[in-house]
Amino acid sequence: METKVNKVKLSIDGKEVLVDDGLTILEAARQNGIDIPTLCQHEALSNWGGCRMCVVEVDGSPKLIASCVMPVRSGMAVVTTNDYILECRRTMMEFIFAERNHNCMFCPQSGDCELQKLAYELQMDHLTVAFSFNKFPTDVTSEYMAIDHNRCILCGRCVRACKEIVGASVLNFQNRGPKNLIGMDLDETREQSSCYGCGICMQVCPTGAMVNRYRSHYAVKGHSKDWQPLDTVCSQCGLLCPTVNFVKDNNLLNIEGKLTGDNGRPDRGQLCYKGRFEALKNTGKRLDSPMVRSGNGTWEKSTWDEILKLVSGKLNDVKKKEGGEAIFGLASSAASNEELVLFRDFMTQGCSAVYVDTFDGAHFRTVAGVYKEGKEAFREASWKMIPQADMVMLLGAAPSQSQPMISTLLGKGILQRSQKVAVLGETDPIQPYATYYIPVADGALPLLIGALKAGIKGSGDGGKLLEKAGLDADAVKAFHEVVKAFSDSVNPLFVVGEKLTGLEDPAVLADIASLAKQKGLYPDNTLRLIILKPRGNSAGAWKMGISSSNKVPGKSKWKAGLVLLGEPDDSYLAALEGLKSAGFVAAISPYFPESLADQVDALIPKPAWLEEEGTFTSVEGHETAYKQKTLQAPAGVMDSWEIFKNLAERVGFKPEYQSWKNLSKKAEHEIKK
Ligand code: SF4
Ligand code: SF4
Ligand code: SF4
Ligand code: FES
Repeated sequence: METKVNKVKLSIDGKEVLVDDGLTILEAARQNGIDIPTLCQHEALSNWGGCRMCVVEVDGSPKLIASCVMPVRSGMAVVTTNDYILECRRTMMEFIFAERNHNCMFCPQSGDCELQKLAYELQMDHLTVAFSFNKFPTDVTSEYMAIDHNRCILCGRCVRACKEIVGASVLNFQNRGPKNLIGMDLDETREQSSCYGCGICMQVCPTGAMVNRYRSHYAVKGHSKDWQPLDTVCSQCGLLCPTVNFVKDNNLLNIEGKLTGDNGRPDRGQLCYKGRFEALKNTGKRLDSPMVRSGNGTWEKSTWDEILKLVSGKLNDVKKKEGGEAIFGLASSAASNEELVLFRDFMTQGCSAVYVDTFDGAHFRTVAGVYKEGKEAFREASWKMIPQADMVMLLGAAPSQSQPMISTLLGKGILQRSQKVAVLGETDPIQPYATYYIPVADGALPLLIGALKAGIKGSGDGGKLLEKAGLDADAVKAFHEVVKAFSDSVNPLFVVGEKLTGLEDPAVLADIASLAKQKGLYPDNTLRLIILKPRGNSAGAWKMGISSSNKVPGKSKWKAGLVLLGEPDDSYLAALEGLKSAGFVAAISPYFPESLADQVDALIPKPAWLEEEGTFTSVEGHETAYKQKTLQAPAGVMDSWEIFKNLAERVGFKPEYQSWKNLSKKAEHEIKK
């Protein structure tokens, strides 16, 4: 039922306005297009009323009121600007500037600083109070962010963001009086502290006190007004966090989370360290031209015509002479749904390749094995169910590395909602906060799961299995507590990671699925189980059948193959026996694949992940999201569509989709199946 909100009539700067009861004066003014300056207030955070920059006059009283914390009342007469109010705001601004070091000229945030902008707006061109010349420490222990307390204005936004959005409460005010500063945990450095490195504190900081260590210099960034904001998503782990990418002159300058508005996600617009910082790094040596390895092993540039002819020619020859058995295709599941369809169709239909797989095929085979056994309904739950669970069993998973936002959600659940979290078999930074932690070596995980099954299903206490798994007395005690907590829980959820799917033992996963089923399915008919997949679009690749049900052959009859690489990510391939013995291997890659330099024969450059549009599938496979192109690829790099179109034409293959749009539709259809 809709709740009826009472309306309140008041006047702001002589204008009569009608607003919802319960709003603050600041909100009422903004809703009516009247601007009031603020510093400590942020629309994604609770109001604090600390900086007094938003003061207004109410009912003619000379005692000014902070509009961000004062609720509206019927008949109120508010004045937001007059000489006296401006003088008060300017004086407060002078104190802020005098208190610490705000030499904008030497600050990496200059041009993109709310404090600086407001000082200009208030026409503060000199100080009438003396500088305090207090010296405060700086903290550059984190790879990603620097803290310079000399530029902090103690507005508390970072403290509230860390507590309210992230749920970590790492930050707080420390010391008193002139020594007051923002401390991390018990006066730790950022690196030593329990900080997740998510960077929300930095995003909401209105000054240069918390800055991004990548691309932070004014010389690169210039003024933020000259940046182009692009709404897109992060495709690195399958959680598809919405981001705003800021670009100037084809430089990616900043990535922010979308903190405001309800987007139906439990993370409230957070980003993790990967989404916010990793994309700003310069990774690997870019390939900006096709290259061919010469007879003496050196790499030489070639033309597009030469490379397309060479690669299509070799694959076609092998297809004609030896058949598809002699051709392989291997793709990174970091690629978009569209790229994966292009790759799969070209390999299977264009080249008749019999073996096509993804780098994470081993994990796929574990999951597919459970489907094959057909014992369990196997539709995974959405990761968004995590905050609602009263108990989460983390099995062989390290979400802080694979899907970092999940670590944050669990941390928040533990600290703010008494969510029970059991970590079994893998260490993760979440582990010190976990309710239960049972460490076992990776190989012993199946024993632990076997004991868990016995304990939960009441078919014994699994004592022998626990002994075999090498659990000490404390771990055995913790194990029995886990079994009891699971039995008592009403809404538990299993979160399984790579250490378990990597075992290539579907029976273990099937056991977990059956335990999950014991507590009933979710209303959308999904199992209480989420599988954290290894790459950004693993779920998409798996759903589109690109990963192979058969293991990569140790020794093969491969004579030619094509590899689709994503970001520098070739470690898996370097170990492939079959690759080494194949006669001809070409790679399509944005980067020069250093560890494959002696194993591939031809390199086709492609756009890096931010240089191409595409859709990606969420970690559990329920949703897709569109990632728009943020940057232009270097001159001389063809996009994936053109590369595969050209290769397909040259082997005489004509796919049914003849445009990117139709390709996207096909990919979407396959994901939804
Ligand atoms: S934080 Fe802002 S106001 Fe302070 S020095 Fe840096 S740019 Fe200037
Ligand atoms: S980076 Fe994230 S977790 Fe760390 S202090 Fe800032 S808000 Fe808190
Ligand atoms: S670090 Fe930034 S956000 Fe935090 S209190 Fe200081 S100025 Fe405010
Ligand atoms: S913005 Fe209102 S007191 Fe700081």
